[in-house]
Amino acid sequence: MKKLQLALYVKTPVQAYETILDLGELKPGEVFYDLGAGNFDLVFRAVKPPYNAARSVGIELRRDLTTIAKEIVRRDDLENRIKVINGNVLSPKIDISDADLVYIYLSEEGNSRIRRKLEKQLKDEARVVSYDFFMPNWSPYSDCKVVRAPIIFKGIATPSVPHYFYLYRMNEVRRR
Ligand SMILES: C[S@@+](CC[C@H](N)C(=O)[O-])C[C@H]1O[C@@H](n2cnc3c(N)ncnc32)[C@H](O)[C@@H]1O
Repeated sequence: MKKLQLALYVKTPVQAYETILDLGELKPGEVFYDLGAGNFDLVFRAVKPPYNAARSVGIELRRDLTTIAKEIVRRDDLENRIKVINGNVLSPKIDISDADLVYIYLSEEGNSRIRRKLEKQLKDEARVVSYDFFMPNWSPYSDCKVVRAPIIFKGIATPSVPHYFYLYRMNEVRRR
């Protein structure tokens, strides 16, 4: 993996979207982040009912994916609800301190590299949902769900396998 890259682009399956947003208790008026947002599907989902996030932000390294997402934002007149950032989530210039719910689908190494930023910037009330990879040093998680779904890589889906969703609450992470 390249130095900046925390994970390859593997898409979260659509069947998992509600589990992520429900487990993370995303409420109307809150702020959602997907760190390494891929095609920004979850970023778009978060502003729709029943979640109705006030704002939804995706940060993605790949310019091709952010270009398409920016076009959809413009087409659907969502500029005041959705922010598409082409950049490195680890950059000190990227501030995530207004997040209520952060979603990450990275890798074992990606999680350990992003951990300090989350600890430093997230408020106590913030929640983090991590798909398939737990956060080292944050265990035990607050809650965990298992859903059978495919792995989707380069547009090809495998047969369904169990996937894990780990929920962390920053106030509990800091207390331990
Ligand atoms: C496993 S994919 C998840 C994509 C999306 N969140 C989803 O669930 O469908 C990880 C994504 O993180 C992006 N990524 C990897 N390292 C990154 C970094 N340092 N900054 C921003 N995005 C990154 C990859 O390009 C890829 O799109």
